[in-house]
Amino acid sequence: MGLLLLLASTLLCSCIQSGIVASQDRSFTISSVTLTIEPRNEVPRNTNVTLRCQAKVLTKDNFPLTRKYIIYKEDRAVHTETTESSDDILYRLPEARVSNNGKYRCKLTIEGKNMSSQPIKLEVTGVSKPIFHLNKNNLTEGDRVTATCSAPGESGVFGFYFYDDSVELTDVQTRSNSAQSMLHFSTLGLHRLHCFYTVDNMPLAVKSEESNKVTVTVRELSIRPVLEISPENNVYEGDPLIISCRVEPSEHIFGNIEVYLSQDGNSRWLSMGKMDTEYSMTATSPLLTFECMMTLENLKKSERKNVTVIELFSTPILTMSPAEVFQKEPLTLTCKSEIVASEKLKRADLSYHLSSNESFVSSGSGVFHVTALEKDYTCIAQARGIRKASKTLTVHPKVAVSLPNISNQSKPILGQLFYIVCRSDVGSLPITYILYNHSTKLDTRVIRLPNQTALFPVVISSAKEQGRYKCEAQNGGRRIQSEELVINAIVPLSSPTLTTVPDLSDISEGGHLNLICAVNGSPPVTFKWFREGDLQPLSTNTSTNPFKDYEIPVVSNQHSGSYYCEAYNQADNKVESKSIYINVRMAPWKKAMIWGIVFLVILLVLIASCVLLYRSKRGKRERAPELSVRSGVL
Ligand SMILES: *[C@@H]1O[C@H](CO)[C@@H](O)[C@H](O)[C@H]1NC(C)=O
Ligand SMILES: *[C@@H]1O[C@H](CO)[C@@H](O)[C@H](O)[C@H]1NC(C)=O
Ligand SMILES: *[C@@H]1O[C@H](CO)[C@@H](O)[C@H](O)[C@H]1NC(C)=O
Ligand SMILES: *[C@@H]1O[C@H](CO)[C@@H](O)[C@H](O)[C@H]1NC(C)=O
Ligand SMILES: *[C@@H]1O[C@H](CO)[C@@H](O)[C@H](O)[C@H]1NC(C)=O
Ligand SMILES: *[C@@H]1O[C@H](CO)[C@@H](O)[C@H](O)[C@H]1NC(C)=O
Ligand SMILES: *[C@@H]1O[C@H](CO)[C@@H](O)[C@H](O)[C@H]1NC(C)=O
Ligand SMILES: *[C@@H]1O[C@H](CO)[C@@H](O)[C@H](O)[C@H]1NC(C)=O
Ligand SMILES: *[C@@H]1O[C@H](CO)[C@@H](O)[C@H](O)[C@H]1NC(C)=O
Ligand SMILES: *[C@@H]1O[C@H](CO)[C@@H](O)[C@H](O)[C@H]1NC(C)=O
Repeated sequence: MGLLLLLASTLLCSCIQSGIVASQDRSFTISSVTLTIEPRNEVPRNTNVTLRCQAKVLTKDNFPLTRKYIIYKEDRAVHTETTESSDDILYRLPEARVSNNGKYRCKLTIEGKNMSSQPIKLEVTGVSKPIFHLNKNNLTEGDRVTATCSAPGESGVFGFYFYDDSVELTDVQTRSNSAQSMLHFSTLGLHRLHCFYTVDNMPLAVKSEESNKVTVTVRELSIRPVLEISPENNVYEGDPLIISCRVEPSEHIFGNIEVYLSQDGNSRWLSMGKMDTEYSMTATSPLLTFECMMTLENLKKSERKNVTVIELFSTPILTMSPAEVFQKEPLTLTCKSEIVASEKLKRADLSYHLSSNESFVSSGSGVFHVTALEKDYTCIAQARGIRKASKTLTVHPKVAVSLPNISNQSKPILGQLFYIVCRSDVGSLPITYILYNHSTKLDTRVIRLPNQTALFPVVISSAKEQGRYKCEAQNGGRRIQSEELVINAIVPLSSPTLTTVPDLSDISEGGHLNLICAVNGSPPVTFKWFREGDLQPLSTNTSTNPFKDYEIPVVSNQHSGSYYCEAYNQADNKVESKSIYINVRMAPWKKAMIWGIVFLVILLVLIASCVLLYRSKRGKRERAPELSVRSGVL
């Protein structure tokens, strides 16, 4: 009951108090936060170091404030303390170690306000000397030993490094100040071991001095592998070989011993066994290397031996003669092993087999007669179970050139460059083409690429020349001539002349008219006749002669006008004549008729006058002399 009363009064009291507080002015300001290191910023290891955080807080009224201090090491909180006292905060680092090194900072927070001190750096110098220890010092090959390296009195993150003289054996990373490692030695004799360690001290690590040195002796085990090859000398290809691998001495065996027999260049072992193993094979040249290896737990020991194998016969060489052949010509292939170990093998005992494109051709003493075709040949020399294959010989028989085709690639216009082309459809390259004109050699072309044609530029400079061209194609001694290409130069046309039949002065109505257009130049010539002012020609005609006429069978006076003609031939130069004027005369019968009519009219007038005269003579006789004078005039 008394306890309940006490609780109630406490509650009441604190309510009243907070009422009072609320009425107080609670404003404050953090004026400074300072962090210091005692006794100094830089100390030797083992020093008792204290970090002191000192804060100055100014208030209007004196009232308690809850202060929260956090001490950071490199932005990681390492110490937190909440107090209402204004006393300094102390963070102790007893017997400081290198691992305590770093930048420290103190932060004070009061009711949402905070302030940090300037960062300050603690530097502890020196680490302890490492201690190195081995669990045994007296070893035989293959033994393992436990090594321990410790950093007495240190803390932090460590790296331990184990050394055999200057050679690093292994390393261990740990948070513990001691590390162990299993060591074994690949060489016999004395080994001087030591270790050292590093402690992480961002950003760099601090390295300790070297530990004490420990010497161990690794003694050889009396057992060893023994490799024996029989026979070892004067071994020829094809000889049987027996290789044995065993462990000596075979007495006082302890542990699980295995032996492996292997050959260089072969990743699989030849044979293996416990204590011993054996393998039989046929010797091949030129060198065989064997290895006999024994294993006993971690121990591996081996012995290696070489066997020089004398070649019974050398790799055959396949040659052809002649060196160049045309397709389907006879060809001799010779297969020969240059060197034969005559003390062991007679040349006659060697047999040769020829195959082409992987199919067997024939067997014999090494000389083969074949027909030249595009093929890959190989030969195999064989004796005493040994087979040796030659390199592949590829026969590329030549293909003789076919009849070349000769043609002109452009029009042979007088005085202009044109091309003569020669081409054989088949034939091994290179092909030489020679161009002849009337049996005179003009030019030579060598074609080295497929589908290339021999192109010869030619100019004919006189219209009278007739070119008679031939092509000769040659490859590897084969030559063949094309047919003859006869070329007459195309002579460009000169200006045409237009003439008429009948003559210009004789053209009259009703007659016929021929307009003859004539040029100089190579036929066929195409002519066109034009009447001046018309766009369409009157006629177009082609002639194998250098002239042509256009006929107007019945001429009328509508045909009067100016005319001209045009002509062109294969040289493609269009030429035009001067124009002529054609004046069509009246027809003779028309003239006669006109004269007839005139005469008739005069006659009629005369008759009429006579009649009139007669009448007037009758009526007025006195005027008769006057009238007779008039008719006399007529
Ligand atoms: C450091 O403090 C320990 C007790 O915490 C004390 O035993 C030791 O003597 C001090 N070392 C030094 C160097 O003052
Ligand atoms: C410390 O105060 C600053 C302003 O002075 C503010 O931005 C920051 O958030 C405060 N930090 C903490 C952890 O309260
Ligand atoms: C090492 O061991 C061998 C036999 O195991 C012994 O004869 C030799 O005395 C030992 N050596 C040392 C230095 O202990
Ligand atoms: C075997 O021959 C190789 C190559 O000739 C040579 O390097 C090696 O030392 C030889 N090994 C032995 C055991 O004679
Ligand atoms: C033989 O093989 C070569 C290349 O493999 C080939 O070019 C040739 O045409 C073949 N000859 C015959 C006759 O099959
Ligand atoms: C020769 O070549 C010309 C022009 O390419 C061609 O028109 C002609 O048919 C060819 N003649 C033969 C026999 O191949
Ligand atoms: C070759 O020449 C003739 C005249 O001899 C000509 O008619 C022919 O058009 C020419 N060929 C070519 C491809 O120009
Ligand atoms: C050569 O010409 C033939 C036919 O004209 C064509 O099929 C072939 O691809 C050509 N070869 C080359 C190398 O241009
Ligand atoms: C071709 O031969 C004829 C007759 O010998 C000769 O008149 C002519 O000039 C020659 N043409 C060329 C282009 O060599
Ligand atoms: C071309 O001339 C021939 C022979 O002179 C003639 O028979 C033919 O009708 C003429 N052609 C034209 C379109 O005038």
